[in-house]
Amino acid sequence: MSFPRTRMRRWRRNETLRRMARENRVSRDGLILPLFVVEGSGVREPVVSMPGVHRFSTDRLVEEAKRVFDRGVPAVILFGIPADKDPVGSGADAADGVVQRAVSAVKGALPDLCVMTDVCLCEYTDHGHCGIVDGDEVRNDPSVERLAATALSHARAGADVVAPSDMMDGRVAAIRRILDENDFEELPILSYAAKFASAFYGPFRDAAESTPAFGDRRSYQMDPPNRREALREMRLDLEEGADALMVKPALPYLDVLADARAEFDVPLAAYQVSGEYSMIHAAAERGWVDGDRAMKEALVAIRRAGADWIISYAAADLDLS
Ligand code: PBG
Repeated sequence: MSFPRTRMRRWRRNETLRRMARENRVSRDGLILPLFVVEGSGVREPVVSMPGVHRFSTDRLVEEAKRVFDRGVPAVILFGIPADKDPVGSGADAADGVVQRAVSAVKGALPDLCVMTDVCLCEYTDHGHCGIVDGDEVRNDPSVERLAATALSHARAGADVVAPSDMMDGRVAAIRRILDENDFEELPILSYAAKFASAFYGPFRDAAESTPAFGDRRSYQMDPPNRREALREMRLDLEEGADALMVKPALPYLDVLADARAEFDVPLAAYQVSGEYSMIHAAAERGWVDGDRAMKEALVAIRRAGADWIISYAAADLDLS
């Protein structure tokens, strides 16, 4: 049945009708806020390339976590930035490492906040790669061992969810195994399963001081043109024991997200990465877009494509009423 009997505009005539016809919404419930933690005390330093984002020492991080939990954010994901780095990323799995101390402080103050941790080596290695380097090669299996030890140290510190972001093969299985052997069989793994080698991570690498000293991440992160391969990555991570899957970045990869939604029944997360966030802020600062509207439109598009959870730097401050 077509025009004039069908008129699509009938459901768009006023805000009440639009509200009734709305298919997707973004509420705080599925949002996860990334937080950066540094050594020291009393630190709350702005990240220049990410307006509104700061790096906190643990004491100030706890205050920030309280603030965002009070605003209705159910979960945070912590990234640690250590004072010292070395070739094997020794700080990554140190029992008294920067992120381990932050996890226990935040959980101590806010037991009901879901505290996730990013499991990776790149913030802790002096070369900035996500694994162990041999010459100019990033070696898979030795890296997996270090990543598993890192995940276990986060579990011991009290993390609610561990989220490996390195893209080494077999790391989900290794993490599952070491967690189970140490009585953490109930701890879920959120796998950064389809993580692409993206230009949109630029501002994050400033914040986390994790730009590779040589080369790039294309030998382990996915090639942006590949869609079928993303499904293989996700299927493999499920077989290895992942409890939830992530697609990253979000907005440029909505097709991958929609494929994943059609194929898998586990919780699906999407990461609106630093470049996606900062581009909207930069354009808004120039008066080229309405920043709030653009941010909300991006988030609802990510939800519409099938994400249950969205990791976003805007999670706490966006007005979602
Ligand atoms: C660490 C990691 C990165 C991001 C999340 N975890 C950086 C990278 O892979 O280079 C990017 C997050 C963002 O850009 O907001 N491996």
